[in-house]
Amino acid sequence: MVRGTPARHANDQRLRHPLKKHWTLDDIPWGTFDRSKVDPDLLKLVKAAAMVEKNGLDYAAYLGRVFPDDAAFRQVAERWASEEVQHGNALGRWAMLADPTFDFDLAFGRFREGYRLPLDATQSVRGSRAGELVARCVVEVGTSSYYTSLADAADEPVLKEICRNIAADEMRHYSLFYTYLNRYLETEGLPRWQRLRVALSRMAESEDDELAYAYYAANGEGEPYNRKRCTRAYAARAYRYYRAPVIERGIAMTLKATGFKPNGWLARTLSKAAAYFMAYRQKRLIEAA
Ligand SMILES: [Fe+2]
Ligand SMILES: [Fe+2]
Repeated sequence: MVRGTPARHANDQRLRHPLKKHWTLDDIPWGTFDRSKVDPDLLKLVKAAAMVEKNGLDYAAYLGRVFPDDAAFRQVAERWASEEVQHGNALGRWAMLADPTFDFDLAFGRFREGYRLPLDATQSVRGSRAGELVARCVVEVGTSSYYTSLADAADEPVLKEICRNIAADEMRHYSLFYTYLNRYLETEGLPRWQRLRVALSRMAESEDDELAYAYYAANGEGEPYNRKRCTRAYAARAYRYYRAPVIERGIAMTLKATGFKPNGWLARTLSKAAAYFMAYRQKRLIEAA
């Protein structure tokens, strides 16, 4: 693996400050909150999402260890992480408004106690830095799809606004990592089948511990952690909100990051497979419940 830093491009300056004029918690119209429109299932998902988002600084620390000699990228990654933390704070504040018994800090402390990223890693867990950036693209397009779906599903106006803001941020984050991915591909190279393997394995991780434990830390009532049960509880609520156009756009952008055609046969096959998987899983989980 070539460890050199990719050559600087003319738009480096823009990339170092791509997050200017970012919205703040003060821009959210908290006064329009309407308790009668809070959906209890969405509330559970929002609480869990707040945990994962607020943990963004750990991701920046991990990325700092994977890209130690790329100061420009590390700077961008730190600003990116601060936006992720803000996502967590916005969702957490809304959750406390919707459920005054919810203690965001306490729940986040529980999450941190039970779930930690590989902060001692000195190389990407994806095998290469280009692979790491493919995985980051997958996560960002996945979260953008998720918050777009939650915004569409939410009736409560404040939650709708927060989710729209976050979905737009996640799309911008995708573009950010995609730009750096292309730079690293110039120096490291990574065949598109290997990029596809990274993308698919990262997509499959959506049912790993992170979300399940976040769901547990945010919604548990003192019972012991059971990954299977928490994954089911999370997935049964989350998968129902995805609509076909959102899934298709998510698959297209994922394939773009792997070097495959975003609208070819593979895109159509994967979109159908993803829609089928989510509908099947949700049906089975409801039957099981
Ligand atoms: Fe986020
Ligand atoms: Fe993001």
